Amino acid sequence: MTALLEVRGISVSFDGFRAINNLSFEIGECELRAIIGPNGAGKTTFMDIVTGKTRPNEGQVLWGEGSKSLLRMNESQIAQAGIGRKFQRPTVFEDQTVAENLTMALSAPRGPFSVLRWRPSADSAARVAELAAEVGLAEHLSRKSGELSHGQKQWLEIGMLLAQDPRLLLVDEPAAGMTLAEREQTTTLLRRLSEKHAVVVVEHDMDFVRRLDCKVTVLHEGSVLAEGSLDHVTANPEVIEVYLGRG
Ligand SMILES: Nc1ncnc2c1ncn2[C@@H]1O[C@H](COP(=O)(O)OP(=O)(O)O)[C@@H](O)[C@H]1O
Ligand SMILES: [Mg+2]
Repeated sequence: MTALLEVRGISVSFDGFRAINNLSFEIGECELRAIIGPNGAGKTTFMDIVTGKTRPNEGQVLWGEGSKSLLRMNESQIAQAGIGRKFQRPTVFEDQTVAENLTMALSAPRGPFSVLRWRPSADSAARVAELAAEVGLAEHLSRKSGELSHGQKQWLEIGMLLAQDPRLLLVDEPAAGMTLAEREQTTTLLRRLSEKHAVVVVEHDMDFVRRLDCKVTVLHEGSVLAEGSLDHVTANPEVIEVYLGRG
């Protein structure tokens, strides 16, 4: 099996501090993967590198069947290639309805800011309804997005990313600020999405990670400390020492 995404020996330093240190790992097609690790381990920086926001000083980032180098692409080309990223703070247009937000995302060419240049298309309504159903917002199509709960806004943003049909979705700390019920629905959603897309989730909430029920990568000081099932990595003495033991 060839990987969908492979990072190979990447390092990045900020003012001499190695935030990512010879990091290597792979994500498969339609794989669901959780990334955990202490604050400052490099989890967000890893996502910044994959999406082209931060350039590594060394190493390779390879994408898709042809192992294309993402390091030769800019942020919008990487988005075009099929990598979508969800930030922690939802960035939906609060004055627009759920349907309007999804319509804009659907009509826009892939890319971080291209959503602002949308042209409505005639047959988008059915796809908008489908996207809303996929993220559990079918009943809320005509509501102003600003009226949604925090969790619902996060799902709307995931729906907007799905409108671009990404092959890989990067999701940074989705559980933060969500109610328990919302967190449970989010794990169900992410598991379902991974049937058709690869999904990489950074998350601290261990109950959330357990419900994802997927392979876990533990980052520490910019490298992979352990990898495997949640039970496997949480039994690792080094993981307990650097992460779990801190309470
Ligand atoms: N743009 C930046 N400039 C300087 N230092 C940064 C920058 N981005 C991240 N860092 C540093 O790199 C380390 C890793 O950060 P980050 O990837 O955000 O960790 P995590 O998401 O695992 O908590 C931290 O020490 C952080 O302060
Ligand atoms: Mg982070």
